[in-house]
Amino acid sequence: MSATLTNARVAMSGISKTFGAVQALRDVKLTLNPGEIHTIAGENGSGKSTLLKILGGVIQPDQGQISIDGQEQVFPDVRSAMKFGVTVVSQELSLVPHLSAAENVFLGHNQARNKFGISWADTNKSCSTLLKRLDLDLDPSIQVGSLSHNRQQLIEIARALSFDTRVLLLDEPTSALDPMKWIHSLE
Ligand SMILES: Nc1ncnc2c1ncn2[C@@H]1O[C@H](COP(=O)(O)OP(=O)(O)O)[C@@H](O)[C@H]1O
Ligand SMILES: [Mg+2]
Repeated sequence: MSATLTNARVAMSGISKTFGAVQALRDVKLTLNPGEIHTIAGENGSGKSTLLKILGGVIQPDQGQISIDGQEQVFPDVRSAMKFGVTVVSQELSLVPHLSAAENVFLGHNQARNKFGISWADTNKSCSTLLKRLDLDLDPSIQVGSLSHNRQQLIEIARALSFDTRVLLLDEPTSALDPMKWIHSLE
């Protein structure tokens, strides 16, 4: 199962992708309207991850168009998709185990700075606020590698929410979580 949470109008059409002899997607159409939550269900190998990776700029389609709020866009990489608020959380964890929860959540951000450099007090506080949205009450300075897989998945989601995310794509990172609990926490 994959899921999306949308705050923009996304239209994908005519999306096709082959890997060698394997046709992963053929002429796929998907429309997401603001406020909608979608689930994409299909058996293993049916192309769910491929579709989300294309929308998230992780891989490129052989054919097809993507438009955001009526404007056609091309996402040659993840950063291009993120500029339009499209963020994908993939099945594989991408956290840095020896860094803290807050460092992982804000990796690559311009953190609040004071005259001594990055303000860790502010960064930790922002991290706690995000984690609370996900019902996760933990010390933001804890090393991520010491946490359970479940909690690491929630930190991945907190990281996705820390950007200006309007379209959140979750590729089964929630399979081990209580679904209603995290969906309510995103509202
Ligand atoms: N990078 C890749 N290289 C070769 N084949 C791939 C690659 N990614 C996906 N595929 C193939 O594309 C098909 C769809 O895979 P995928 O999108 O991962 O399906 P799902 O997420 O629904 O399980 C499968 O047959 C898979 O083996
Ligand atoms: Mg998959």
